[in-house]
Amino acid sequence: MTDNSSLQAYLNKLHGIIADEQVKKVKQHKKGKRTAKERIDDLVDPGSWTEFQQFATGHQDGEELLNDGVLTGVGTIYGVKVCIFAQDFTVAGGSLGEIHAKKIAWLMDLAVDMKAPIIGLNDSGGARIQEGIAALEGYGSIFHRNAIYSGVIPQISVILGPCAGGAVYSPALTDFIFMVEKTSQMFITGPKVVKAITGSEIGGEELGGALMHATVSGNAHVTAASEKDILQEVRRLICLWKPSHAHEVMAPKVDQLMTLLPDDPKKGYDSRTLIRSIVDHETFFEVQEKFARNIVVGFARLNGQPIGFVANNPKVMVGCIDMDASDKCARFVRFCDAFNYPLLVLEDVSGFMPGLKQEQGGLIRHGAKIIYAFATATVPRITIIIRKAYGGAFVALNSKAIGADFVFAWPGAEVSVMGPEGAASIIYAKEIQESIKPEETRQQKISEYRSKYANAYHAAKKALIDEIIHPNETRQRLIQAFSFVEGKKREQPQRKHGNIPL
Ligand code: HXC
Repeated sequence: MTDNSSLQAYLNKLHGIIADEQVKKVKQHKKGKRTAKERIDDLVDPGSWTEFQQFATGHQDGEELLNDGVLTGVGTIYGVKVCIFAQDFTVAGGSLGEIHAKKIAWLMDLAVDMKAPIIGLNDSGGARIQEGIAALEGYGSIFHRNAIYSGVIPQISVILGPCAGGAVYSPALTDFIFMVEKTSQMFITGPKVVKAITGSEIGGEELGGALMHATVSGNAHVTAASEKDILQEVRRLICLWKPSHAHEVMAPKVDQLMTLLPDDPKKGYDSRTLIRSIVDHETFFEVQEKFARNIVVGFARLNGQPIGFVANNPKVMVGCIDMDASDKCARFVRFCDAFNYPLLVLEDVSGFMPGLKQEQGGLIRHGAKIIYAFATATVPRITIIIRKAYGGAFVALNSKAIGADFVFAWPGAEVSVMGPEGAASIIYAKEIQESIKPEETRQQKISEYRSKYANAYHAAKKALIDEIIHPNETRQRLIQAFSFVEGKKREQPQRKHGNIPL
């Protein structure tokens, strides 16, 4: 081929791509969705996108599948380099064929070499049925990388359409899943297959919509009302993870922290208000907001530095820890530890959730994950006990015994082997029973137990708490304490890897 003819072939190809883009646009817009390229443009900093392997082509029924249904390249988000792949539903339903898989696998390897987060914009019907087992092999190569790169680079999945089969296993292996309400769905087998196999008719939203995954299954970490909004959320998260400069810091607006708690110590309150009042202004980013709401996890900045936080939420189930809350907390702690985000725990917990359903469901195994995750985390980690910390939950949620760097408490905090009501009823059972006014005696014994054993000063005397701090000093004391342990190095015993209870 002469130079001219190869140039002509190149130009023809480019014209083909441009014409094709127009067709795709119309097709996707009709479904209330956008093209892979439009999505990338919303995600990256303007002008920062470079696409690779644009001419990689698959084939189906003698037709060329341009790009083989996926765009792969590099861009920046707030200046942070990221690798992105974006599946194109208009090409064979974004299904994964051999070349498609090769492109993603190559990009994942590149992301590791660049030490850059990888973001997948998923919109795919799963393994390309026509390619059969070659597509399965392709998925295998991606799953392999998802697993071995876990903890090496952050992996984010954004679900932007009906994703099925292999197209959901890969996101499930990544760190965070973002979904759009009403347009994105995830299922192992879609409604058509469910109907064919089981005979039952079930809608895509019910089977795997964003709402279901955000509230029931817990598979979705962040949801938003539109594609544009969800991509902004991804941008916000990447921005929060960046190391920062002090001049960007804005302190929170509230400084009277005690006013955020109800007068009645038995009443619930929303711990998110408390977190927002401690961390830098408008840096609060909640993960799995609608799932296991009895615990709150997420990212924020403290004096400009990114941190991960975990807080019991006494507003929901009085903040008790159940199976879902255990999984949510443990996985989040593991992410923070893997990527060196210091951990802050705001503790206000009466214990693990009692009851048959929880025990039968394996609360022991689920709860153990929290202990395992904190105990093995080597990042700086600090706990503040706000009102109460009882029993196993006190130990599990980043106590000194399992390696916290500092444990602080507010002055009124109760720390005890169990709640004073339960404890007094057991150890003073005889006195209460024999009393002529049993209820009065019970109340007396409860307050006796509380003042003798269940208070922060008693725990401080036993060195389980490092300091009792004034609530209004919380932010400053945390900034100071995190600065003491900045760059901390804690070695773990040598081993191949641990075996977290799953
Ligand atoms: C090839 C596919 C495809 C697939 C969709 N298409 N999925 N082509 N392989 N897996 C094509 C359709 O034929 C159609 O082509 C176009 O994409 C759009 O699909 P529609 O069905 O018209 O779209 P919609 O109604 O929006 O439904 C989307 C869907 C549905 C829910 C994803 O297509 C579906 O249920 N697909 C099958 C999903 C599934 O069960 N996948 C599992 C594959 S096996 P035309 O030419 O008409 O536009 C798997 C195992 C992996 O993934 C295991 C890994 C270990």
